[in-house]
Amino acid sequence: MQVLIVYDSIFGNTEKVALALKDSVKEPHTVQVANVDAFSSTLLAGVDLFLVGSPTRGFRPTGAISTMLKELSQDALVGIKVAAFDTRISIKETNSKFFKVMASLFGYAAESISKALVRHGGTLASETHWFIVSDKEGPLREGELEHAQTWMLQLLGV
Ligand SMILES: Cc1cc2nc3c(=O)[nH]c(=O)nc-3n(C[C@H](O)[C@H](O)[C@H](O)COP(=O)(O)O)c2cc1C
Repeated sequence: MQVLIVYDSIFGNTEKVALALKDSVKEPHTVQVANVDAFSSTLLAGVDLFLVGSPTRGFRPTGAISTMLKELSQDALVGIKVAAFDTRISIKETNSKFFKVMASLFGYAAESISKALVRHGGTLASETHWFIVSDKEGPLREGELEHAQTWMLQLLGV
């Protein structure tokens, strides 16, 4: 399987998840990881599994990820398995009532990424996965990189 992982990251947490996903891909599978700023649709050539990840910012993906998804051609992902991930604050662990209400109403980045991937013809390979940060800028909660490794092995059917 040829895997492409595209991510955005402001404080480095989503990048760590993307790199942990990448490190879990072993031969005969191949993997490429790219920051969203380096994405071009030529990277999709030959790709079997396309993963897109973003920090959740204001209940949605970053502007760069949204723009990348918007600019994909209508059928760019036909024949490609797709899945989305994000990093986010745990609704259970926050004391902010405002955040709890808003998050339950407006959600997180991965859901809208996942929908966009399918809108562009992708075949959903997995439910969304998310990785919890302990505070607004991180760090990732303990065990989240292992969570990423486990998810990738599931995606590869190992
Ligand atoms: C301006 C701002 C808005 C944020 N909005 C949300 C949000 O709506 N929901 C959430 O779960 N976390 C939110 N967070 C926390 C981010 O999800 C967290 O910064 C991110 O997961 C870290 O990933 P990164 O290091 O890859 O940037 C926000 C953080 C900032 C700084």
